[in-house]
Amino acid sequence: MFLYLSQEDVIKCDGLDMKMAIDDMRRLFLLHYNGATIVPHKLSLRWGDLKSESRIGRINAMPGYVGGDVNVAGIKWVSSKPDNPLKRGLPRASALIILNDPETLFPVAVMDGTLISAMRTGAVTGLAAMYLCREDASILALIGAGVQAHTQLMAVKSVRPSVREVRVFDLNLARSDAFIETERNNYPDVLFVKALSAETAVRDADIVITVTTSMEPIVKASWVKEGAFLVNAGNYEYEPDVVYECDKVILDDWDEVVHRGIQTVAVMFKEGAFHRERCYAELGELVVGEKKGRVAENEKIFFGAVGMGVEDLIIAKRVFDKALENKIGVWLSLWDKPYWF
Ligand SMILES: NC(=O)c1ccc[n+]([C@@H]2O[C@H](COP(=O)([O-])OP(=O)(O)OC[C@H]3O[C@@H](n4cnc5c(N)ncnc54)[C@H](O)[C@@H]3O)[C@@H](O)[C@H]2O)c1
Repeated sequence: MFLYLSQEDVIKCDGLDMKMAIDDMRRLFLLHYNGATIVPHKLSLRWGDLKSESRIGRINAMPGYVGGDVNVAGIKWVSSKPDNPLKRGLPRASALIILNDPETLFPVAVMDGTLISAMRTGAVTGLAAMYLCREDASILALIGAGVQAHTQLMAVKSVRPSVREVRVFDLNLARSDAFIETERNNYPDVLFVKALSAETAVRDADIVITVTTSMEPIVKASWVKEGAFLVNAGNYEYEPDVVYECDKVILDDWDEVVHRGIQTVAVMFKEGAFHRERCYAELGELVVGEKKGRVAENEKIFFGAVGMGVEDLIIAKRVFDKALENKIGVWLSLWDKPYWF
């Protein structure tokens, strides 16, 4: 038997709690640093080269195992169809998560992973911001106003409540409008500004987060102010000079960023323009205190996060436990009686 949880069920089981999600990420990166995770490389099903993903889409298989007291294996199977929002009125991404019991290795849960995926992506930024972002940050620039932008904002506001102005730039201005309309109600203390260019959003911003489907650089080095915290959560969205001019470059996981090959640092590495030694730290090293995060107010800090399936799994396990406790979801069976064994 396995438990099926819809997105509504996931929400009932604290799926939208950003503070919990950030705490999950802290535990996850601690376990990851200590070698208590297994992270096979992402496998991408696509219908062309890497760049075709921004037109045609792709589906990623992201298996993993989280050890320690979490002790769960599983996979996120996540699709991306960039024209879904405009052409079909559907989200770009949809995801299923399967959790497997560590004893039998049987599936014990199948749940919506779309919401968990967005929450953990925001939460990773939130965790990184705790170490890398100025405490008095007040202006946030969001480049891309899609689904991920919502959880990026949630995460930033939960660790840097000092943020009072959020500038939103999206190529599709209607998406900026819709984003602002929703978030204005959630954060009445914030001034939301619809930016008409990426440059006007980024100049003077303390935090810049790119979450677009673009495969071409958007953010230029000359726009970035001293002391800024820059997050590359989408693809190749920063010109290489931005990275060169940063005092510190931190990644969620070097191997995963390089293997996936789509973000700014990965593209630079492929072209021989960035070397492993230039990566100051992985996020886990900051979490365990092996390396210091921000040490000066004027440091420009670049954080690239490509995401790992284990991030989804740790949240999914918490959601599953809560569902068991509160008897939420629908039990389904693979068979009445196994045909062979
Ligand atoms: N790093 C991670 O762990 C992680 C996790 C989930 C999603 N992502 C990535 O984040 C990106 C955004 O995901 P989403 O779910 O918000 O998608 P979405 O389709 O909901 O939103 C993306 C937005 O980017 C805008 N955009 C595209 N090109 C742009 C440009 N040049 N300038 C400004 N805006 C532009 C689009 O108009 C769209 O509104 C995707 O590339 C996705 O693969 C990363």
